Amino acid sequence: MYRLAPSLLSADFARLGEEVENVLASGADWIHFDVMDNHYVPNLTFGPLVCKAIRPLTKAPIDVHLMVKPTDRMISAFIEAGADFISFHPEASEHVDRSLALIREGGAKAGLALNPATSLHALDHVMDRLDFVLLMSVNPGFGGQAFIPGTLEKLKSARERLDAWQRKSGRRLLLEIDGGVKADNIAEIARAGADTFVAGSAVFGAGREADPHRYDTVIARLRGELATVGA
Ligand code: DX5
Ligand code: ZN
Repeated sequence: MYRLAPSLLSADFARLGEEVENVLASGADWIHFDVMDNHYVPNLTFGPLVCKAIRPLTKAPIDVHLMVKPTDRMISAFIEAGADFISFHPEASEHVDRSLALIREGGAKAGLALNPATSLHALDHVMDRLDFVLLMSVNPGFGGQAFIPGTLEKLKSARERLDAWQRKSGRRLLLEIDGGVKADNIAEIARAGADTFVAGSAVFGAGREADPHRYDTVIARLRGELATVGA
């Protein structure tokens, strides 16, 4: 019922393929792939070529989080590169409805990524276009930042909206949280309504210190915390 999506942003880029294989062998569910363009956010990471290179390593979902402006060309490129889930920020697209449609037409699952200060109203007229919602609990651009506490209230409101939508439409959207997720706050975040958890530094940082090749300990710890949360 819960999905763990380690963010490659904190992986060892010199051994990226191994990192992907090791983290999945250690029990991760998805690979979270943070795409930054030094325009929409003040940092630069990797693009569709890197996604295409890791695609053959796994059947696990690749969850592409686009922090790029404009969005549409990268949406097409990441579909081509084998992405399963693609989210983008509404502020970065001139035509949100069209960008969402583009993702689904390419056969991927479509999500909107909302910054800490972006209202949930951004979801109002596109619920039927969405497969998931990604709530940022830090400002996008860097790994290793602290979870913004106000996100918990926002998560609860998002959970209510998504539950109401499920009652109305019969469709359940995933609710993903991204930024500052650690073993000591993941249970509280789950209680607030998230079902899918991005963790970058908590997995690849702390995990690597424990054992440079395996992430079993840290992933088991995160799952152990989630197991304390009642259904
Ligand atoms: C930030 C990215 C996050 C980030 C999470 O812009 O979207 O996915 O890598 O990293 P941690 O878990 O270290 O906050
Ligand atoms: Zn992300």
